[in-house]
Amino acid sequence: MSITELFSLKGRVAVITGGAGLLGTKHAEIIAEAGGTPVLIDLAVANPAARADAISKKFDVPCLGLSGDITDLAQVESMRDAILERFERIDILINNAANNPKMERREGKNFSRLEDFPIEIWEADLRVGLTGAFLCSRVFGTEMARCKSGVILNVASDLAVIAPDQRLYREPGVAEEEQPVKPVTYSVVKAGLVGLTRYLATYWNDSGVRANAISPGGVYNHQPDDFVDRLSQLIPMGRMAHADEYKGAILFLCSDASSYMTGANLIVDGGRSCW
Ligand SMILES: NC(=O)c1ccc[n+]([C@@H]2O[C@H](COP(=O)([O-])OP(=O)(O)OC[C@H]3O[C@@H](n4cnc5c(N)ncnc54)[C@H](O)[C@@H]3O)[C@@H](O)[C@H]2O)c1
Repeated sequence: MSITELFSLKGRVAVITGGAGLLGTKHAEIIAEAGGTPVLIDLAVANPAARADAISKKFDVPCLGLSGDITDLAQVESMRDAILERFERIDILINNAANNPKMERREGKNFSRLEDFPIEIWEADLRVGLTGAFLCSRVFGTEMARCKSGVILNVASDLAVIAPDQRLYREPGVAEEEQPVKPVTYSVVKAGLVGLTRYLATYWNDSGVRANAISPGGVYNHQPDDFVDRLSQLIPMGRMAHADEYKGAILFLCSDASSYMTGANLIVDGGRSCW
């Protein structure tokens, strides 16, 4: 295969959950640039149809935006039917949707702390991050296995392989027991996705379906300067990622360029987890 063929997604239909979000849009852009057909699934409030329209115009490829909730099996099944009716195939699933765990105060307490972490938030975060990824893998992965070809890519995080450094989130003048922390659900969801990846890779090992994870590091998104400085000091490359810096790895993992790779977790974190 030529380099162009190795990385080409021509004719391939790629479902991206959370496709209207910060990184989901970037995943969709690289799929479109490589000649593929992105399908953006997101909550109605995120307006995936408008995002899809913009991508379609920019890259001159078909791009579909579907409003739906990935935690609801019936909705996922009806989105599968809509995609098959329109494009007659599903080649790639990127499990990218997640709740952004909150670090807010509630009733005077910082409920991100483990001692106060509400069970309803635990359940909501796991429901999107893990149950949603499971349901999409079940529905779209089964279709790929039936066709004996496909790729599943789970979007984990550097915090799938290292613990959060809670010193990053400290606020001056706040009592020790009130200091905000990265919520426990983030670590649990991301490590769980790496487990799901290995399970799917071996479960469908003889069905032509490959499953991998990507573990991105933190993306610069107008966070406060002192947070960016503190985090940058923990990263050998000395900076956070730009939102479009995962495009190359996403294309590699979704295309035939990674044809001998399954069950792996590609860490793309500026070196943070090796320090
Ligand atoms: N941004 C970062 O720094 C970073 C770093 C490492 C990993 N990640 C991971 O990358 C992925 C994308 O992150 P992002 O920064 O683009 O976040 P984002 O919040 O911009 O996007 C997440 C999207 O998921 C959607 N979503 C939430 N619940 C849903 C549901 N039930 N059904 C359908 N869609 C739903 C949201 O509407 C949102 O558009 C996440 O898994 C995140 O954990 C992000």
